Amino acid sequence: MRYLVTGGAGFIGSHLVERLVAEGHEVVVLDDLSAGRREHLANVRNRIRFIRGSVLSAEACRRATEGCDYILHHAAITSVPLSTSDPITAHAVNTTGTVNILFAAHRANVRRVVFAGSTSAYGDTPELPNHEEQLPRPLSPYAASSTARTQARPHQVAAREVARRGGMRANVTAVVAEALMASAAG
Ligand SMILES: NC(=O)c1ccc[n+]([C@@H]2O[C@H](COP(=O)([O-])OP(=O)(O)OC[C@H]3O[C@@H](n4cnc5c(N)ncnc54)[C@H](O)[C@@H]3O)[C@@H](O)[C@H]2O)c1
Repeated sequence: MRYLVTGGAGFIGSHLVERLVAEGHEVVVLDDLSAGRREHLANVRNRIRFIRGSVLSAEACRRATEGCDYILHHAAITSVPLSTSDPITAHAVNTTGTVNILFAAHRANVRRVVFAGSTSAYGDTPELPNHEEQLPRPLSPYAASSTARTQARPHQVAAREVARRGGMRANVTAVVAEALMASAAG
């Protein structure tokens, strides 16, 4: 199988890339290296395709997605201080970047898109452990944009409609944005 790991030079992404390579999969990484490091991929650098680019670029997303079966979408601005000093960029990367990936995934007939939600969506609620029925109460721009992208399903529907109108196969509906609850650390 061929996987695209966005944010593959970051903390979670680089571990996923190592695991996928070890399991014999083809791996493409799309990362702008704004926070991630090439060194995180040192053990697998000769066995992956690395694209330095941004999820804000529809063209980069298209190029990275070509021929992929699955996408693990982890490109994001994850720093709360950075999201506070530059909320517009954080919002763009974390939400518009996700929509770009969903659209590219649809065009490429990708089977499934998976990304990690964040418990920061639930703020400082005393009700623990968090669960997805809780009302979102994000307390930072990072948390707000993380929350927004877990609501990306309408964009998935739109992607399908755009594809249909463009004459692409309309019966490919397997692009599913799944908000995975992060581990307890999240
Ligand atoms: N680490 C955690 O405990 C945790 C908890 C909950 C959710 N998450 C989520 O998991 C995902 C990955 O988190 P992480 O801890 O690995 O973060 P990270 O900051 O280590 O990795 C993010 C990667 O995205 C890249 N990136 C940033 N902007 C980009 C852009 N415009 N285009 C392409 N790449 C870009 C960075 O260079 C970096 O390599 C994020 O969506 C985060 O919200 C993480």
